[in-house]
Amino acid sequence: MSHMSEARDIAARAAALREQLHHHAWRYYTLDAPEIPDAEYDRLFGELQALEQAHPGLRSVDSPTQRVLGSVLEGLAPVRHAVPMLSIQTETDTTAAGARAFDARVRRELELADDAPPVPYTAELKFDGLAINLRYESGVLVQAATRGDGQTGEDVTHNIRTIGQIPLRLRGAAPPLLEIRGEVYMRRDAFERLNERQREKGERTYVNPRNTAAGAVRQLDPAVTASRPLAFYAYGVGEVRGWREPATQGALLDALAAFGVPVAAERRVVHGAAGLVRFHDDIEAARDRLPFDIDGVVYKVDSLELQRRLGFKTREPRWAVAHKFPAQEQATHLNGIELQVGRTGKLTPVAKLEPVFVGGTTVSNATLHNLFELRRKGVRVGDEVIVRRAGDVIPEIVGRMPGVRPHYVPNLRMPRACPVCGSAVVRERGSVEHRCSGGLFCAAQRKQALLHFAGRRAMDIEGLGDKLVDQLVDGGVVRTLADLYPLATPEGTARLAALERMGDKSAANLTEALERSKTTTLARFVYALGIRHVGEATAKDLARHFGTLSRIEDAPLEQLIEVRDVGPVVAESIRTFFDQPHNREVVAALVAAGVSWPEHEGAAAAPGALAGRTLVLTGTLPDLTRDQARDLIEAAGGKVAGSVSKKTDYVVAGSEAGSKLERARELGVTVLDEAGLRALLAAASAN
Ligand code: IVH
Repeated sequence: MSHMSEARDIAARAAALREQLHHHAWRYYTLDAPEIPDAEYDRLFGELQALEQAHPGLRSVDSPTQRVLGSVLEGLAPVRHAVPMLSIQTETDTTAAGARAFDARVRRELELADDAPPVPYTAELKFDGLAINLRYESGVLVQAATRGDGQTGEDVTHNIRTIGQIPLRLRGAAPPLLEIRGEVYMRRDAFERLNERQREKGERTYVNPRNTAAGAVRQLDPAVTASRPLAFYAYGVGEVRGWREPATQGALLDALAAFGVPVAAERRVVHGAAGLVRFHDDIEAARDRLPFDIDGVVYKVDSLELQRRLGFKTREPRWAVAHKFPAQEQATHLNGIELQVGRTGKLTPVAKLEPVFVGGTTVSNATLHNLFELRRKGVRVGDEVIVRRAGDVIPEIVGRMPGVRPHYVPNLRMPRACPVCGSAVVRERGSVEHRCSGGLFCAAQRKQALLHFAGRRAMDIEGLGDKLVDQLVDGGVVRTLADLYPLATPEGTARLAALERMGDKSAANLTEALERSKTTTLARFVYALGIRHVGEATAKDLARHFGTLSRIEDAPLEQLIEVRDVGPVVAESIRTFFDQPHNREVVAALVAAGVSWPEHEGAAAAPGALAGRTLVLTGTLPDLTRDQARDLIEAAGGKVAGSVSKKTDYVVAGSEAGSKLERARELGVTVLDEAGLRALLAAASAN
């Protein structure tokens, strides 16, 4: 190939990339309806950047790499930012090298000697929502604006005022002018609930929490925004008058928190690259446990004086960087669609995927929820699809990548008979769900009921997973939940050992896990029963409201409806469950087998001796798992925190307790062992 035609090809590729990026940026920023995952956008963006770097002549002023994207929509008034809203440079190397590269750059630009002490940084979360500028005059919120293109945003004051977390007036002595900047986002559970409701109504579901939050903020009707559960975290300031700014970013965040603005607890002042790496690792490990999505962390030079010295490179500060985590959305190939029969008989279409690394694990299955949602998303076998896995939420298919199918592929149809037991498949009028009518006759439903019961958030029977449940049910050893605990007796162990492919060791392990699971909480037990519509939150509310199992079992509909978030449908389902003698028998058998919990846990009438108390758990306790201890504390009205501070009331320490125990001793916080915790809880239930 000649040089001429090679150059032409490169120019054509750059032009094509620019076109695509413009299109996707418009879908993403202006319409809040992206067609491709962020990771795919980043890949295209990176390719264009590389081409332009190698051939600077290709760079043009209209290239997406040369400006901050996002434009003002018609309908919302433009707001000119007094201090531009900047973007942060992104470090896409998700390994420790990314943090080291930033620290090295900062040291070089500050001309620090090799033996100069480590640079202090504030490390924060990178929230995944929509950037907002809140303007407070004499402490009163007078205007809220989106970032827009960084110079001019949109006036969304009417919508922002509906977010309960954002103070309309600052606490304490506020300066004449203070602009607070941060991110509006949506919690994952709120997002899931919103989609669950959409699904029940058979309506379009939302793609991800970020786009849903962004869409909600830019509504023209504030009533729509108000109906979306939004949240906010502050991370900086804009224009400021009449206020002596603190000397560091860390102190600035503390000051904002003192003004009554939400600031994430997950922030840390660290020293040098090692501190940044540790923060990145810690947050990555905790990512699934955070109640909201983040796509990385942000490092900022802590000293504002040093920040001024470092200054800016066009639109990005030299003193900050966003350090990414592996993406939570990825494109992959849809190899097939299988129907899975769930605990309540629901038939769920499950996507069989070409394995793809997303959200920190390799995903090869993802839910498509129901036939109607599958149709709405328009995915068919053979498509390139987008999978999303965030937190411990099960992976799901967001949609398909744009493109024409090379040949015709038929739509999925629901069978008339259950693929597992052959019973009739039915769909209630107005419902979007198809179910198997076989009930406990259907082996799939029995297996799912057992798996749910044994789950980590339910009875937490370690090791009782898919394979073992298949063996137990297929081998005819377990038919209902009541058959489970008798396995922990000598006769049971003998029956277990007789099963094919079951060694003595596995039988002994299961026996032990069953024994351990018997100490639980009322909330976990109620959740474990798998009553339709009773999730973890509802189970907790029921336990708190009624206090005892028999009161829940006997509660008439009117009483059930009084429980927070329990409506007629949920109440009806609880009643139906306990009205079936068979279910009562199972519950009685479980209790007779020794399943127990502290009586009257957290009942509304007795707030418990731990009400208002904060405890920190550290090390390994002799009998209780971390989750069990947490449940017991929460049931008694206490709170479990992740780190020790002056506000901590007790530290519960087990073996191999580390820095938290040291810190407790430094601060003079009372330290308890497991027995001490139990004594405290006994006092709580005696109240
Ligand atoms: S500071 C000069 N801190 O990331 C730096 N931004 O690319 C200004 N973001 O649109 C921003 N978490 O909305 C900062 N802890 C954090 C952040 C954060 C998320 C967003 C921000 C901005 C984008 C910058």
